[in-house]
Amino acid sequence: MRSPGTLLLLLLLPTALAFKPSDFKTCSQSGFCRRGRALAARAQESPSSWHSPYSIEPPEFLALAPRQQGFTTSVYSSIHPNVKFVLDVIIHEEGIVRVRMDEEDGLRKRYNEAAQWALIGEPKLSDDVLWTIDGEKAKAVYGPKKDMKLVVDFNPLKITLFRHGKEQVVLNGRGLLHMEHFRTKEDSKPLEHIEGEGQSVLQVNPAAWFEGDTQDAFWDETFSTWTDTKPKGPESLSLDITFPNHAHVYGIPQHATNLSLPSTTGPIARHTDPFRLYNADVFEYLSDSPTSLYGSIPLMHAHSANSTVAVFNALASETWIDIAHVEKGGVETHWISESGILDVFLLPGPTPTDVFAQYAHLTGTAPLPAHWSIGYHQCRWNYVSSDDIRGVQNRFDEEDFPVDVFWLDIEYAEDHRYFMWNKKTFPDPVEMTRDVEAVGRKMVVIVDPHLKRANDYPVYKRASELGVLVKPKSGEGEYEGWCWPGSSSWIDFFHPASWDFWISLFKTKTIDGQWSWTESTDNVGIWNDMNEPSVFNGPEITMPKDNVHYGGWEHRDVHNINGMLFANLTFQAAEARTDPPRRPFVLTRAFYAGSQRFGAMWTGDNLGTWEHMAVGIKMVLANGVGGMPFAGSDVGGFFGNPEPEMLVRWYVVGAFSPFFRAHAHIDTKRREPYLLEEPYKSLVRDILRLRYSMLPVWYTAFRETSESGVPILRPQYVMFPEDEAGFGIDDQYYIGSSGLLVKPVTQKGVMEVSMYIAEDQVYYDYFTNHAHRPQNRHITLPANLDQIPLLIRGGSIIPTRERPRRSSPLMKHDPFTLRIALDTSGNARGEVYLDDGETYGYGRGHVVWRGFGAESTKGKGKGQGIGMVRISSVDLAASTEVGAYDPMNEFARSVGDVRVEKLVVLGLGKKPLSVVLDGGRELEWEFTSEGVLVIKDPAVRVVDDWAVVVQSE
Ligand code: NOJ
Repeated sequence: MRSPGTLLLLLLLPTALAFKPSDFKTCSQSGFCRRGRALAARAQESPSSWHSPYSIEPPEFLALAPRQQGFTTSVYSSIHPNVKFVLDVIIHEEGIVRVRMDEEDGLRKRYNEAAQWALIGEPKLSDDVLWTIDGEKAKAVYGPKKDMKLVVDFNPLKITLFRHGKEQVVLNGRGLLHMEHFRTKEDSKPLEHIEGEGQSVLQVNPAAWFEGDTQDAFWDETFSTWTDTKPKGPESLSLDITFPNHAHVYGIPQHATNLSLPSTTGPIARHTDPFRLYNADVFEYLSDSPTSLYGSIPLMHAHSANSTVAVFNALASETWIDIAHVEKGGVETHWISESGILDVFLLPGPTPTDVFAQYAHLTGTAPLPAHWSIGYHQCRWNYVSSDDIRGVQNRFDEEDFPVDVFWLDIEYAEDHRYFMWNKKTFPDPVEMTRDVEAVGRKMVVIVDPHLKRANDYPVYKRASELGVLVKPKSGEGEYEGWCWPGSSSWIDFFHPASWDFWISLFKTKTIDGQWSWTESTDNVGIWNDMNEPSVFNGPEITMPKDNVHYGGWEHRDVHNINGMLFANLTFQAAEARTDPPRRPFVLTRAFYAGSQRFGAMWTGDNLGTWEHMAVGIKMVLANGVGGMPFAGSDVGGFFGNPEPEMLVRWYVVGAFSPFFRAHAHIDTKRREPYLLEEPYKSLVRDILRLRYSMLPVWYTAFRETSESGVPILRPQYVMFPEDEAGFGIDDQYYIGSSGLLVKPVTQKGVMEVSMYIAEDQVYYDYFTNHAHRPQNRHITLPANLDQIPLLIRGGSIIPTRERPRRSSPLMKHDPFTLRIALDTSGNARGEVYLDDGETYGYGRGHVVWRGFGAESTKGKGKGQGIGMVRISSVDLAASTEVGAYDPMNEFARSVGDVRVEKLVVLGLGKKPLSVVLDGGRELEWEFTSEGVLVIKDPAVRVVDDWAVVVQSE
C-alpha cells in the first residue's frame, strides 16, 4: 500500500526513480573538472618542459629557530604575479603533516571551514621537529626514530614526505597544483586579440601554457535545464598527489567499485571518468562505476608491502580524483575540487593500523553504539499502520525469528511532514512504540531534512520564523525545492540558531511551550535519509550550487558536509532527550569525514542483483577504510523481488556486516523472512540466530574500533600488510581482531568457495570444527545454500551466546560458549567486552572486559604433541584506565550470574587424560571423533578470573 501522496510523486517524478546517466555530470560536463583534466593533459604533452608556476619565499626564520612545528610563507605564481597566496606547513603530533594554502587578500574569501567540521579539535603540534634550510629546500626531520623527513622545495613548490629516505607522498611533483584566484569578469576578459592601427593583433596570454586559452565555464554553466550562475567566478583547486613505491590505493568512499581502486586515466584505465565525490541521491546506481554516491570521505590510503601512508584532503566541494597506476610502480593521483582552500593532511603510517590511529586522532572514532543497534533491523517502505507493525512483530515471534528493531519509513508522516503522525494509520504511535519496546525491542523512525512548506506544520513554521532555512541564490528569503512532501525548504544546519531548535524538536516532553515530539519515546532511533540533500527538481537531484548558507557561503562550498551536519544535530538531539544522556542511534545516508561520530550509514538504494550484493561488501569495506565502520547495505536489495536463494545469501552478507538491516522499496513484494517457503525460511532463521549468537564478537569489535579506529571488517591488506597477494582481495574479510574470517557467497548456484589464507596457520571450519591447513595459500570449503564459508583462525578464542532469543536485550543473562581454536603451537587468545549497552556508564568503568588465553606446554619426549593446556580468563579492564575501575562495578554485579557454560577446544590432537578447574574440581568433558574437546558447564562466572587445565599426558 502506498499513500496517494506518494503515488502522485511517483507519477510526477520518474527522473528520481531510476538511474539515468544523464541525471549526473561526467567530468566533461563539469567546467572545473574539464579545466583540471585539461591542465593534466597539457602537462603530459610536454613533460620535459612542464614546471609548476608556484614557488615560495624561503621561510628564513627557520634558520634562526629551527625547532618549530612549521612555517607560514608567501606563495608566488609566475603566471599571476600580482595575486598573493599564503602557505602553511605544520607538523602535528603523530607525525601528521598539514599543508594549507589560501589566497591572501583576494577579492573574496575561499571556504576554509571543511576541516573544522571534520576534525574533533585543533590537532596538537609536534614538539619534536628540527628544520634546516638547504639551498632551495626546507627540511624537517622528526618522529621518535627521526626517520621521517619532510622536504619543501621552494621553486617550483613541491612537498615530499620521506620515510627512511624513501619517498612516500609527493605534493605537486607533477606540477598540477593550481589555485584559481578570484577575479572580476572585467579582469578576466580574453586577451587573444587587441586592435592596433587598423589591424587585429594576436596577443599571447602569458598564462595560457598553464591555464589554457579559454575561459571554460568561468562565470556560468548549464547542465540539462539548470544554469549555475557562479557569481564568484572560477575558484577551483587542482593538486597532484603521488605515492611513489605504493602499488595500491584504497578509500575515498563512496563508490561502487573494487576496494583497491582502479585507474581512471592512463593505459590501464578501467573507468573513463575520475572518481567523483559529490553527495548525490542516485537511485538504482550502477554496480561498477566511479560516479559519486551518497557520501564523500576524501581520505585515501596508499599501500605497499612495507609501507602505508594516507592523505586526507579536507575539502567539502565537488571533487574529482584521477588515479593512475604507473609502470615504474606507485600511484599518481590528481584531485580537482570546485572551491575551498587547500588543506591536506599527510598521515605517515607506516602500517595500516598506524594510519587508522592517525586518522582517528584527527576525526575521531565511531562511538560504542547502543547494543540493540547491532541486532537485526527489519525495515520496509513502508509498514503502513500501527497494526501492521504489531502484526509483523507478532509474526517474527510466532516464527521464532530474532529481531531488535522495526522501522518506519516516510509514510508514517502525514503529508510527509516528519514528526507528525498520520493519525488514520497510526492513531496510537506511543502505544505502538511501547508495544515494540515491551520485549526490549526498539523502533527507528525516519526524519528527512526537507520541510513541507506549510504554515500548519510547526517545524517549518518555526524554522521560517527563526530564519534558519537555506536561502536561494539571491541570498534573500527561503529556497524552495521539491521533495517527498512536494514544495519544501531545508534547514541550514550551518546556522547556529538552528541547533537548539532542532534539538528541542526531539524532546518527548513539552518545554517552554515549544512544539516537540511528544508522540514519541526517548528510545526511538532516527533515520536521516535524503540528506545529500536530495532535491527532485534540482540540478543532479540536489540543491543548486548557488544557494546561500549561513555566513554567505554558497552551497557549492559546503555540499559534501551538509548531510553530516544534519546527522550530527540529530545525534545530539536524540542524545539530549534524557538526562543523563543515553547512546542514540542515527542512520544517515549522506556522510563526510567525521560522520563516524554520529552513527551508522548504509549504502543507499541498491538493486536486488548479485552484482549489487557483491559490491555492497566492497563498499562497506571502503567505508571502514574511510573511518566509518558502522555500515551495511539493504539486505535483499532495495529494488526488486529477490529470489529465495538470493535472499538467503543476502542475509549472510547482512549478518556479517556491522549494520544489519533488511529494507525494500514500496513497489516490492513483502519479503519479511517468515514469508519464505521452506527450506529458505529455516535457513534465514538460522542465519539470524547465528548473528545473535555472535553479538559478543561484534560488540567486542565495536569496542575496539571505538578506541583504535581500525575498522571492524578487515580486508587482507589491513590484516596482513606485508602479503602482496592479498592486497587486491575484497570479497572476504576478518571481523575485528576476533580471528573470524568470512567469505559470503555473492553468486548464484555456488557450491564451493576458495578462501585465501595469507599465513601457514591452521584454520577451523566454524560449523564442523574441521581443521584446515592452507594448500597453496587456499582453503576450499563447501558452500551450498545452507553453508557459510566461515573460518576461525588458529590462535583465536570466540565468545558466543547460543540460546535463541527473540531480541538481544533478552540475552543479557545468557551464558557464554568459548570456542578455543588452538594455533599450530597450541596457543590462543580472545576477549569479550560487555556493558549495559545503553548508557555512557562504560566511561566510568561500568564494564566487564575479559581476556581469554590458552597456553600449551609440550608433552614429554621427542615429537610429542601438546602435554597440557591452561585456559584462563583475566580482567582486561583492570589493566586499562577506564575511569575509576572496580571489577565488581555496578554493571559487573548486574551480570554476576552469567556463566561460561561450554568450552570447545579445537586442535588438541589427542584425547586428554583429565580436565580440571585450576585448583579444584574435575570437569565433565567429551572428546569427539573429530578431535574436539567439549568441556561441559565448568560453572565459572564470566566476571571472574578462572583457569581450566587440560592434561593430555
Ligand atoms: C530513499 C532511501 O534511500 C530509501 O531507503 C527510502 O526507503 C526512501 N528514500 C523513502 O524514504
